[in-house]
Amino acid sequence: MANDEQIRSEVMAEAEGEVPERFTGEFPIQIRGLSNAFGEQTIHQDLDLDVRKGEILGVVGGSGTGKSVLMRSIIGLQRPSAGQIEVFGQDVSADSPSGEINLRSRWGVLFQGGALFSTLTVGENVQVPLKQFYPELVPELLDEIARYKVVLTGLPEDAASKYPSELSGGMRKRAGLARALALDPELLFLDEPTAGLDPIGAANFDALTRELTDTLGLTVFLITHDLDTLYAICDRVAVLADKRVVEVGTIPELLESDHPWIQEYFNGPRARAAQDSKTRAEASHPGHAERAGGKALDKAREGQA
Ligand SMILES: Nc1ncnc2c1ncn2[C@@H]1O[C@H](COP(=O)(O)OP(=O)(O)OP(=O)(O)O)[C@@H](O)[C@H]1O
Ligand SMILES: [Mg+2]
Repeated sequence: MANDEQIRSEVMAEAEGEVPERFTGEFPIQIRGLSNAFGEQTIHQDLDLDVRKGEILGVVGGSGTGKSVLMRSIIGLQRPSAGQIEVFGQDVSADSPSGEINLRSRWGVLFQGGALFSTLTVGENVQVPLKQFYPELVPELLDEIARYKVVLTGLPEDAASKYPSELSGGMRKRAGLARALALDPELLFLDEPTAGLDPIGAANFDALTRELTDTLGLTVFLITHDLDTLYAICDRVAVLADKRVVEVGTIPELLESDHPWIQEYFNGPRARAAQDSKTRAEASHPGHAERAGGKALDKAREGQA
């Protein structure tokens, strides 16, 4: 099977488009003074956030605080009422259709709920963004890239020809991830990726996210309610409350905060359980911070073999 770099160069050659340089700056996402409102309801007000290149940034906040709306603003699906959002140094809040198209091929998104096309196979789902951005690609190459992405996410190769309804919840998440990775993005947006998975399935998905982030050099914006995910794989965590990002830092840094929601969230009984399980995982597998289960890396590697 062709390797990632080879496929990438073939895709680029086929597309005959301009190949964007990979981002070399420090902050692939920079948000200043962002405001979002729906009618009378203000969701964000004067929100600032910097996402560092190469990190997994966990984004937490109570239900309805605007985590998904924030993600939609960054990827240009929600026009802010004020403020500036730069992705790879380009202003996405400005009206520049060609720039936007160029940017869109540089990020991948796993929406809350997964949202695969149910009438398409997994492989065809992965091909959707490929066909959109590279309409000149021949079917054989589309098939090969799709199969490669499917295997990359730890699914067996024959999953490419299955329909979403024929897969388990965990497999559907991986299929969604495969589609998000279709265009070799630099930035990955994951909205509640482990919601609805059992603890072992969630742990495996976390480990896969960490592994792919490190091997593919991704930057990840990861919205989650899952404390285990925060402890296991996030480099920093941004907390949404009071219509803005009230704190961003490592978990030990956040524990110093006296914001009432942060205290309740990170010092409550469930947070202590997540911390304990991380400590146990580290004691039994030094160097592996993922929670109970933790066999995803091996599984993903088996899948790639
Ligand atoms: N298209 C829309 N039109 C009107 N209101 C909206 C729209 N999208 C979101 N909202 C409102 O914006 C607020 C924030 O929604 P959002 O989906 O971002 O919350 P969230 O933090 O992602 O919550 P959850 O953790 O439950 O997913 C909610 O009150 C929601 O009702
Ligand atoms: Mg949401």
